[in-house]
Amino acid sequence: MNEIILSVKDLNLDFVIDNKKVRILNNICFDIRKGSVVGIVGESGSGKTQTMMSILGLLPKNAIVSGEIFYNDIDLLKLSENEINKYRWNNISIAFQDSMTALNPYLTIKEQLIEPLLIHKHLGYDEAVKKALDMLDAVQISDAKKRINFYPHEFSGGMRQRVMIAMALICEPEILIADELTTALDVTVKAQIIKLLKELQEKLHMSILFITHDLGILSKIANEIIVMYCGHIMEHNTANGIFNNPTHPYTNGLLASIPKLNDDVEELPFIPGEPPRLDSIMEGCPFASRCLYATERCRNEKPTQKITNNHVVSCFNF
Ligand SMILES: Nc1ncnc2c1ncn2[C@@H]1O[C@H](COP(=O)(O)OP(=O)(O)OP(=O)(O)O)[C@@H](O)[C@H]1O
Ligand SMILES: [Mg+2]
Repeated sequence: MNEIILSVKDLNLDFVIDNKKVRILNNICFDIRKGSVVGIVGESGSGKTQTMMSILGLLPKNAIVSGEIFYNDIDLLKLSENEINKYRWNNISIAFQDSMTALNPYLTIKEQLIEPLLIHKHLGYDEAVKKALDMLDAVQISDAKKRINFYPHEFSGGMRQRVMIAMALICEPEILIADELTTALDVTVKAQIIKLLKELQEKLHMSILFITHDLGILSKIANEIIVMYCGHIMEHNTANGIFNNPTHPYTNGLLASIPKLNDDVEELPFIPGEPPRLDSIMEGCPFASRCLYATERCRNEKPTQKITNNHVVSCFNF
């Protein structure tokens, strides 16, 4: 678990909206190691999805991005659309929350599963179908021979998420990015999907960037956790460190908000207020307006990230 395969360095992202630049991501830095699961957690709008869109070169036209995102020795931010496309299925793959929109409703699962194999892996038809069946077995869809001919709407929500995982893993990527993969599922199915993902991750020795607003779920899968707020990394530590030695006041607030039964976190009762608008000018720490410990300094100066071993905390008061 030591070789770094993805390295995000000083990632900054602005969107141009009505001729004005709005800062979405600020100095995002983190590494993903081979075989490791990195969780990104944060409230809605904190920049989790835009971080993954930056990695995959899927940003909209009004985006201005700077920094570096190294996949092995290649800076993904420097690649053209065509070049990055080569990496998308084979090396880095995504599975989304919303399988109903991510899967094409007009194509059978078979057609959708074999397409990347035909295009990206250049397999023959029969070989691709065999691989697709194997993958459905791997995600524990029983009677795969019959169900491979189903359309997405013929599966239940949990089954569709399994199909999504099968799609994302079909080319055996080195890195899987899962964006709110389990959010829409009920507690039992959620637990099954996490267990399955963990098993596949270990078997394929792949790395996962697991994006969620549910810190509780990360205790079951992540090795490291990045806590984001308003496009900033507030804290980054081992999962153990985040749960047993939370340092940033925001991390503490998130931990206090984990519901007992691992339900979805819809709001954060222990952190009053809501995140500031990104288009309001932020001088100091973005969390200052909600933080119980905020001082004058916090409101005027951005806490630079303090690094102790592998532990990053953007706070003056820890
Ligand atoms: N195309 C766009 N143009 C302008 N602003 C955008 C665009 N897409 C996203 N944003 C803004 O970027 C910020 C970060 O959004 P992002 O989708 O990354 O949040 P998130 O952490 O994934 O939230 P959620 O938990 O709701 O998925 C938000 O303020 C959002 O409104
Ligand atoms: Mg998102």
